[in-house]
Amino acid sequence: MIYLKNTQQIDKIRRSGQLASRCLDLIETHLKPGITTAELDKIIAVFIKKNGAKAATLGYKGGGGAPPFPGSSCISINDQVVHGIPGPMTIKDGDLVKIDVTTILDGFFGDTARTFMVGQVPKVGVELCQATQKSMMLGIEQVKAGARLGDIGHAIQTYVEAKGFSVVRAFVGHGVGIKFHELPNVPHHGSPGTGYRLKSGMVFTIEPMINAGNYEVEYLNDGWTVVTADGSLSAQFEHTVAVVGSSYEILTLS
Ligand code: MF3
Ligand code: CO
Ligand code: CO
Repeated sequence: MIYLKNTQQIDKIRRSGQLASRCLDLIETHLKPGITTAELDKIIAVFIKKNGAKAATLGYKGGGGAPPFPGSSCISINDQVVHGIPGPMTIKDGDLVKIDVTTILDGFFGDTARTFMVGQVPKVGVELCQATQKSMMLGIEQVKAGARLGDIGHAIQTYVEAKGFSVVRAFVGHGVGIKFHELPNVPHHGSPGTGYRLKSGMVFTIEPMINAGNYEVEYLNDGWTVVTADGSLSAQFEHTVAVVGSSYEILTLS
C-alpha cells in the first residue's frame, strides 16, 4: 500500500530532508584528497546527532543475509554505484564520490544523495556527473497528480541514453517519509503513460544511478557495496519529492 501524506506530515519530511541536504553541504567542505570515508562518515554522524536526528542507514537491515549497515551514510567511489560502506578508503584527486544521507527527524525520513567531483576528474566523469544530475531534474519535472511512474523513468532514460550512458535497473527510487523504503518502486527507465498513476500526497525518491558503460552491476563480498560490472564510472543524485496537485515539491533542499 502507498501512504498519502498530509500537509503536517510533508512539513516534517521537509524538515528532515533539509537536515539531510545541509549535511551534504557540510561534507562537501571536508571532501579533499587524503581524508578517509570513515572520517567523512564520522562528521556526518556528529552533525546528524547534534541536530537531534538519527541516521536511517546505521544498523539498517537489508535482505539476503548481509550484516546490518554499519555507516551513518553510504559513500561510493568511482565504479562503486551505491551502498559503499565507510571505511579506511582514502579520497584521491580525480575521484567521483557519491554520498547518500538519510535522516530520521521527529520520526520522519529525508533521503538525498549527490555526486561530488574531487579535484581534476576525467572528462567522462564530469559529463557523467552533469548528465546524472540533469536526468534527475528531468524526472522530477514529470511529477504531478495524474502523471504516471513511467513518465519519470522515460524522461531520465531518454536523456541519459542519448549521451551514451546507461540507467541502472537493479535499484530504484522508493516511497519514503514514514518509513525508509515504502511503495511505490520508482524505476529510472520506462515508457511514458505506463505504471502507477501519481496522486497528491505521494512522497518518493528519484535517485538515478547512471553508468558510463553498461547498466549491469555486481556486489562486493561485503554484502553491500554495489559496483559496475564493467568497471566503468557511475554517478547518482537523489531527492525526496512530494506530489502537490499539478506540480511537485523537492523536500531535500538546504
Ligand atoms: N539511502 C539509500 C537509498 O537511497 C539506502 C541506503 S540503505 C543502506 O535508498 F543500508 F545501504 F544504507
Ligand atoms: Co533512496
Ligand atoms: Co538515499
